[in-house]
Amino acid sequence: MSKVQLAKGVYWVGAIDWNIRNFHGYSTHLGTTYNAYLVIDDKIALIDTVKAPFFDQLVDRVNEIVPFADIDFIISNHVEMDHSSSLPMAMEKAKKAKLITLEKFGENGLNKHFHCKWETIAVKEGSELKLGKRTLTFIPTPMLHWPDSMCTYLIDDKILFSMDAFGQHLATTRRFDDEVGLDIIMPQAAKYYANILMPFGDLIVKAVDKLSGIDIKMIAPSHGIIWRSHINDIVSAYASWGKGESVAKAVIIYDTMWGSTEKMAQALAEGVISEGVEVKLYNLTRSDKSDIIKEVLDARAILIGSPTLNNGMFPSVADFLCYLKGLKPKGKIGAAFGSYGWAGGATKAVQQELQSAGVEVADSSLAFKFVPVKEEMQKCVDFGITIARRIK
Ligand code: FEO
Repeated sequence: MSKVQLAKGVYWVGAIDWNIRNFHGYSTHLGTTYNAYLVIDDKIALIDTVKAPFFDQLVDRVNEIVPFADIDFIISNHVEMDHSSSLPMAMEKAKKAKLITLEKFGENGLNKHFHCKWETIAVKEGSELKLGKRTLTFIPTPMLHWPDSMCTYLIDDKILFSMDAFGQHLATTRRFDDEVGLDIIMPQAAKYYANILMPFGDLIVKAVDKLSGIDIKMIAPSHGIIWRSHINDIVSAYASWGKGESVAKAVIIYDTMWGSTEKMAQALAEGVISEGVEVKLYNLTRSDKSDIIKEVLDARAILIGSPTLNNGMFPSVADFLCYLKGLKPKGKIGAAFGSYGWAGGATKAVQQELQSAGVEVADSSLAFKFVPVKEEMQKCVDFGITIARRIK
């Protein structure tokens, strides 16, 4: 096993999960990593652990550098199980280690997860931990992604261990951004942000502001690659996503019963495209909602199509809108469309859900009985043109 060194005496000792395809409901087509880091000085600190089934990978990587039992401190930057579920095994193996966590939320989270009586040191903003020549300090980043989340900063080497922030679900052989390429990493960073961090945009903006006052040479997140050559790219992207900045792009998301709502979706797309505006079109039966949300992240318009079923929305559309609402998208305009039989209801229900998701809903919607005729299809094209003109 080859060592991965971030700086002299600082190592990646995490685990690669090539086969995970669902991360609490989020599709991870490319796997992920659970990153843990080891800092060697007079005292030895392990920053985070890994998901429990991968504990052996962590142990093997640490043992290649120092005996696991020699670890003096285990820092829990975040209690979520992907980073902490091997803590009980780690604390058992590193008997002298003290556990470091954020005061109150970290302490409470660890207690409620593990019900263990570990020797814990609670830290807060600016607390310092001297390891010898090197010093670690702690930066709380509440709700990125849980209340207990914090970053650990290695002052001397200017390395920020950023926890979930700036991460990506991406399993790779290489560990650094310049070894993998932005074209592969950024879409995964965007998908990660969209599905996990989007509800916390205001806190992201504050966190980015706070971090801008710190000299950072490397960002080592808890998932995916480590940023050393493209720090500005990822920090700027977070600032932009946090503010809800968007581009002239419409995402058309729909389901269909007998093909009519799908025909309407395609006609809407034609209208948007005719204005030179980017469009993405997703049938909810054939697409993954976390992939769709990644496209919603920087889109200015979202158009939701549902046939009427029992006077309401199709269940797949309701499921998507429930997910969207929880993610609190910022600065979007939206509209509803769909086909109905003897009584409508879906478009009104979609409009209400969009409104409660914080989307600015267009006054008009498109609802046509059974199979749309030529004139109705033209109305869809025209509606697409109207939306496109509004967002470009
Ligand atoms: Fe990667 Fe919020 O845990």
